[in-house]
Amino acid sequence: MRAARCEVHGDPKNIVIRELPDPVAGPGQVVVAIEAAAVNYPDVLIAADRYQVSFPTPFTTGSEFAGKVAQIGSGVEGLTVGDPVMGSAMGGAFADRIAVASTSLTPIPAGLDMIHASAFNVTYRTAYHSLRTFGAMKSGDWVVVLGSAGGVGTACVDVATRLGGRVIAVASTKDRADLCRPLGAVETIAYDHENLKVRIKEITGGGADVVIDPVGGPYAEQSIRALTWGGRYVCVGFAQGEIPKIALNLVLLKGAIIRGFEIRTLAAHAPEAVKEGAAELSRLVGEGMTPYVSETFSLDDVPSALTKVAERKASGKIVIDMTR
Ligand SMILES: NC(=O)c1ccc[n+]([C@@H]2O[C@H](COP(=O)([O-])OP(=O)(O)OC[C@H]3O[C@@H](n4cnc5c(N)ncnc54)[C@H](OP(=O)(O)O)[C@@H]3O)[C@@H](O)[C@H]2O)c1
Repeated sequence: MRAARCEVHGDPKNIVIRELPDPVAGPGQVVVAIEAAAVNYPDVLIAADRYQVSFPTPFTTGSEFAGKVAQIGSGVEGLTVGDPVMGSAMGGAFADRIAVASTSLTPIPAGLDMIHASAFNVTYRTAYHSLRTFGAMKSGDWVVVLGSAGGVGTACVDVATRLGGRVIAVASTKDRADLCRPLGAVETIAYDHENLKVRIKEITGGGADVVIDPVGGPYAEQSIRALTWGGRYVCVGFAQGEIPKIALNLVLLKGAIIRGFEIRTLAAHAPEAVKEGAAELSRLVGEGMTPYVSETFSLDDVPSALTKVAERKASGKIVIDMTR
């Protein structure tokens, strides 16, 4: 099979396509023939060895995929060769095939094709749980989404809108924030020329109920200062590169709640919330919700796809189409 390999940590341009032996399903595992694999920002961080978990080289890049069951290991029940499935893994998705634990796979909800299914799990689960499970978002809330033109951002705008939130999409430029209007954003803020805190307060009157922050840096404090009393700020990531430090007087004065969300460990700590989230997301897909995929690349173009994300030029999701 062909696979996109990181042989030296650093720039994603160094990723190379190699021929590898096909994987074999071990006990409890399934081999999936991958048809599409979505790019996530952590793929860039992992290639650069700047992620929370370090991957020794060489390794196959890619963490999220959709495809068909190709081989079933011993002890696996409930799956048949040919079943369409989607899943995520710690590496290995930018390849023709992957062997993963059967428990890491889920059926593809009716309404999503392979390209959109591959781009669903990470960003939409992150969006749902950061908004609802951690941000306690209610219908009618003012919801501020930072990094709104990115993968997590577009999913947050979409889910929050569908759950009745009034969404303010925040991005570096007006053009990028405006990408979120068709997804439901009622207001936008472009911080290349607008003051984030001032504009959130002006738009909402009393301040934001929920802030979802996958960007970090200086925008974290500015948006916490723009929370209403009892508002919730959910830290999702640090795409800007700087991990913010927040003075606790801001939390005290606003009765604010600051929470962090991390998808990798959620199932271990909150299995009931995961079940609820899956049901709610399936319901929303049934109503037509689908990820915003802006572009597809072939496996040969994985280095360009990751470079585009690293250089902040991607919008919504970029997907590697393995059938090209
Ligand atoms: N906690 C979790 O479980 C979880 C799950 C998934 C992702 N994440 C994290 O969430 C973050 C976003 O992921 P993603 O997949 O949405 O990435 P993405 O599609 O690349 O979007 C990231 C957005 O961040 C903004 N950004 C990037 N660099 C920036 C900089 N130097 N200064 C200011 N803004 C910058 C960009 O906004 P503009 O459009 O405004 O330029 C971009 O649209 C990443 O840090 C990722 O690791 C966390």
